[in-house]
Formats: sequence, C-alpha cells, structure tokens
Amino acid sequence: MKVLLITIDGPSGAGKTTVSRLVAERLGYTYVDTGALYRAVALVALSEGCEPNDDERLDKICGHLVLRFENGSQGSRLYANRDDITEDIRTQEIGMFASAISARSAVRKYLLGVQREMGKSGCVVFEGRDMGTVVFPWADIKFYLDADLDTRAQRRYRELAARHERTSLAEVREAMKKRDNDDSIRTLSPLRPAHDAIRIDSTSLDIDQVVEVILSHIRECVK
Ligand code: DC
Repeated sequence: MKVLLITIDGPSGAGKTTVSRLVAERLGYTYVDTGALYRAVALVALSEGCEPNDDERLDKICGHLVLRFENGSQGSRLYANRDDITEDIRTQEIGMFASAISARSAVRKYLLGVQREMGKSGCVVFEGRDMGTVVFPWADIKFYLDADLDTRAQRRYRELAARHERTSLAEVREAMKKRDNDDSIRTLSPLRPAHDAIRIDSTSLDIDQVVEVILSHIRECVK
C-alpha cells in the first residue's frame, strides 16, 4: 500500500505544526496547516468588523475569499486573495477568533471544500482538528497528537514570546484551556480522535522523537 493521505489532529500546542511539517519533509509530501485556513478567515472577518456569530456575513466573506499556499524562498506562504497573511494570522487574538468562527457552519462548509480540493493530488500531510474524523475519514493513516495542558501552554508561550507578543504564561494557559474546551464541545466537527487514529502523547517526547514514532508507524503501514 502506498500512503497518500496522512492526517494529524489534536489540541493546540501539542506540536502538530512542527511535527507535521517535518514528517511531510521526510516523506517528500505536501504539508497543509488547516488551522492557518481558519485563522485566515478569522483575520479577514475581524478586519471587516464581522461578529463571530454573524452567519450571513461570514458566508459572504467566504464567498469572496480565495486562499492558497505558495512555496517560495521563504518557505510556505499563505495568501488571502492577493495578500500575504502568513505572519498576521499568528497572534493569540486571531487564534481565539478562529476558534469562535470555526464553530459556524458557513465557515466549516467553505473550508471543507478548500481542504478537499487541496487533498486531491494526494501525498499530503493534513494537520488540524477534524482531518481524520470529518474532512478525510478515508485517510490512509491518522494520528492524534496530544500533551498535557501545562506542557502545551509552555510551548505556545515560548512561540509567542519569540515573536515578541506581550502575554504571560498564565494568560496563554487560560486562553488555550478555553479554546480547547470550545473546540471540543462545539456541535460541528468537534475536536476528538478518530476511532482509527494512532494516539501519541508528546508530553515527555521531543519533536524528533514524535517524528520518529510517526514515521515508524507509516513504515509499518506501507510494508
Ligand atoms: O491549529 P490552530 O491553533 O492554528 O487553529 C486555530 C483554530 O482553528 C482552532 O482553535 C480551531 C480551528 N480549527 C478547526 O476548527 N479545525 C481545523 N481543522 C483546524 C483548526
């Protein structure tokens, strides 16, 4: 069996982004960060003063939005229509707003189409919350990456501090706890492991170890 589609789901700060990128690199696959797509919609909605529960406006915004990843000398860049928004979407505010609008059907419906289109070519690692459960239930291998809340909060805090965002560890921990809870209890595509996902706890593992565990499962699967 040749592996074409790999999904990696899990809560924020579990290390999904770095791990998924490295796994894709090692396999020569494309990597798609679907959280970035939700953040992109959030950025546009927020800049237009749209309330997170205004379904009609969200539907209109999505109708005019073209999202694409482009590979260049600076790595993968995300464009919303013509704007490069790669860095702008990485704030805590956008993360919280992305979580809020991700519960709305207009947004999920729009991004379901965008994601499935991106998956058509195969050989892709998709990272998100509902990749293995809703978007690609037929994926060849599914992973669910988790870690305890304190470890995840510390990782995210270090990331934000490196980008000079003014925040504290306690604030990051609280925001993360709320966001994970909201993502898990929403009616539409809640965050949860697919029944056939391989579950990995990264609390006491470093990035390279997680990548190795994932690659060894993939090697087993393609034997
Ligand atoms: O992975 P992230 O922190 O960049 O994601 C931001 C938000 O987007 C997250 O809180 C929930 C939402 N999201 C989602 O609902 N489904 C996905 N597949 C990816 C992200």
